[in-house]
Amino acid sequence: MTRIFGDLERKYLDQVLTSGHLSYYHEADSMTRRFEEAFAEKVGVKYAVVRNTAMTALGTAVTISGAGPGFEVICDPIVHFSAMATVYFNAVPRFADIKYGTYLMDPDSVRANITDRTKALIVTNLWGLCAELDEIRRICDEHGIFMIEDCAHSMGSYWKGKHSGSYGDVGCFSFQQSKQLTTGDGGMLTMSRSDLHDGLYGGWAFGGEVPTRYMALNYRMNEMTAAVGLAQLQRVDNYLDEYTENLRIMNEAVADCAWLRNREVPADAVQTGYIWACLWEGDQHGLEYERFKKVVAEVGAPLRFGFTMKPTYAHDFFAEGTKIYGHPDCPIRCPFYESDYTYQEGLCPVAEDLIWRIVSGGLIEVPTDEVKRRADLVRKAIEIAEKG
Ligand SMILES: Cc1ncc(COP(=O)(O)O)c(C=O)c1O
Repeated sequence: MTRIFGDLERKYLDQVLTSGHLSYYHEADSMTRRFEEAFAEKVGVKYAVVRNTAMTALGTAVTISGAGPGFEVICDPIVHFSAMATVYFNAVPRFADIKYGTYLMDPDSVRANITDRTKALIVTNLWGLCAELDEIRRICDEHGIFMIEDCAHSMGSYWKGKHSGSYGDVGCFSFQQSKQLTTGDGGMLTMSRSDLHDGLYGGWAFGGEVPTRYMALNYRMNEMTAAVGLAQLQRVDNYLDEYTENLRIMNEAVADCAWLRNREVPADAVQTGYIWACLWEGDQHGLEYERFKKVVAEVGAPLRFGFTMKPTYAHDFFAEGTKIYGHPDCPIRCPFYESDYTYQEGLCPVAEDLIWRIVSGGLIEVPTDEVKRRADLVRKAIEIAEKG
């Protein structure tokens, strides 16, 4: 089945074209407004605010958190988006470690990374699975930290019965092509705080004739994009069922393998399909990683090894500092910061041991029959690798 772009999308697009108003506007009858209201209802929050990508949603969230030069934002280290949004506003990403079973931010490590400079935290609900959001919310409340959820992959994912994007001060969703719901490109902020919502519309994010007290860049979504989004939202539950079935099929393929470890899904979580992943533990069973990779390539299973290969802070862009703003002091040696925090090996030992072990495969826009074929190839690769 995968995606359908059909009569409903055409109907809404036609309404936009007939209205003659293609650019973003915020009246009750606008497509952007209708998409926002429907999305807020889906996530179970009071408000949603359109953006043109999740990246700019994250940027908007960092801006309104008040983080900037001299402040730290706690990020997780598997994917780099939270850290990029942080350095864009000259704040310093400080990395909390993840849990081995779930690959998600570890609340204990969050506590250990709080300093008097901590302004915000960005938790990634990675690959359709929510982090321990109630506990992270509690920590943020205790310490006056602005909580941002990166929900780029977590449409349809729940923690303790509440949708991702409803625990943070704001949640940030992506509608880029590879995501559960796509508008081509697009993003959404979710929130229940009326002060934040009113502030955004008061000029924080949208700008106006005069500068406001926040960095108000125009990261708008246009009316045609929202028309597609509004229609896709009515189809998304079918997609989610399909992706989650795809996930189940891939999990089943390695379920009996002693050296490929499926991701842990805590009892409090509802996971949705996005990227399927397991961990290579063959080194603990006398198997050779390079040989397994070769076998996988020979049988033709389209798997990815190692994902980002190393934690965000170990990539040159962060580790060498100089690449960020072309100046070695900015932002991590910024005179406003005055901390000896550095990006070095050992910051997040669990992530360092885990990332290279990740074996993954995409589930979005892959028909279920094709996923079954891939699962069979994975079974075959396991069998060959075990024969030695
Ligand atoms: C975790 C995460 N956050 C943010 C983004 C950025 O999304 P967008 O492409 O909508 O800017 C991505 C993109 O894949 C992502 O994986």
